[in-house]
Amino acid sequence: MPPYPFSKLNVFKTKSALGEYLAPFRKSGKRIGFVPTMGALHAGHISLIQAAKKENDLVVCSIFVNPTQFNDPEDLKKYPRPVEKDLALLEEHHCDVVFMPEVEEMYADNAPWTHDFGLLERVFEGKFRAGHFRGVGQIVKMLFESVEPHHAYFGQKDFQQFLVIKKLVSDFHMPVELTACPIVREANGLAMSSRNVHLSLEERSNAGQIFRILSQTRENLYLFPVAELEKTAMEQLALIPGASPEYFNIVNNTDLSAVTNPETEAVCVALVAVRIGKTRLIDNMILKP
Ligand code: PAF
Repeated sequence: MPPYPFSKLNVFKTKSALGEYLAPFRKSGKRIGFVPTMGALHAGHISLIQAAKKENDLVVCSIFVNPTQFNDPEDLKKYPRPVEKDLALLEEHHCDVVFMPEVEEMYADNAPWTHDFGLLERVFEGKFRAGHFRGVGQIVKMLFESVEPHHAYFGQKDFQQFLVIKKLVSDFHMPVELTACPIVREANGLAMSSRNVHLSLEERSNAGQIFRILSQTRENLYLFPVAELEKTAMEQLALIPGASPEYFNIVNNTDLSAVTNPETEAVCVALVAVRIGKTRLIDNMILKP
């Protein structure tokens, strides 16, 4: 076990040590809840730990900055890695086990990932970050195989990622229950994200506009045609100082295909991606129900 000065946290770096520790719990019928993360933890992650604590006997959190899901090497290089702070937060929130492998541990066999998630991995985030969801699928499958959780918790902020993981679990018949937990927002509405640390104070304050634009779209859902709502939102995003909007689309919650008539759609979600300065932000809002 690495020499972290935390008394109650069990920190493991290898799959075998983690497996050995978890085996007796699994054998005795204890439920294992799992929160996979890339670290740089914030209140959004803590809400996942809390949800997992409520519904399971033991909570495992993984911290692994997964190189295969980064399409931009600069983004990978500057991804925040405040390990000691993360471990202190996890201990404070009574997480039981932390799995913190090195890249070599997860990718030792270097097996190529060939699974195709279909259209889901080619639209929105998949289009703007080519290969991203293949990397996510590859690592989440390996993490699920290492932890063998009964239940795993993800943030709704990564809406498309959650659909990809649902498909992963269904395609590979993995016995894991999945929950998407609500987005946790800062006081001005900005969705919590590990990448928010890259925003200047001014950018952070301006980024609150994204939530305002999403909320306004929700209010106007039945008042204007979808194409007009999307156009207005893109125009308003472009007015945020330093912003370059990438997309704002109203889609369904199953395969993310375009909604033309919200009246006949069971669930409508607005997905948005925008760069503010050098930082790329994504957000979403369920507009209906
Ligand atoms: O959402 C994340 O933090 C990551 O994409 C995940 C699910 C931990 C996989 O690396």
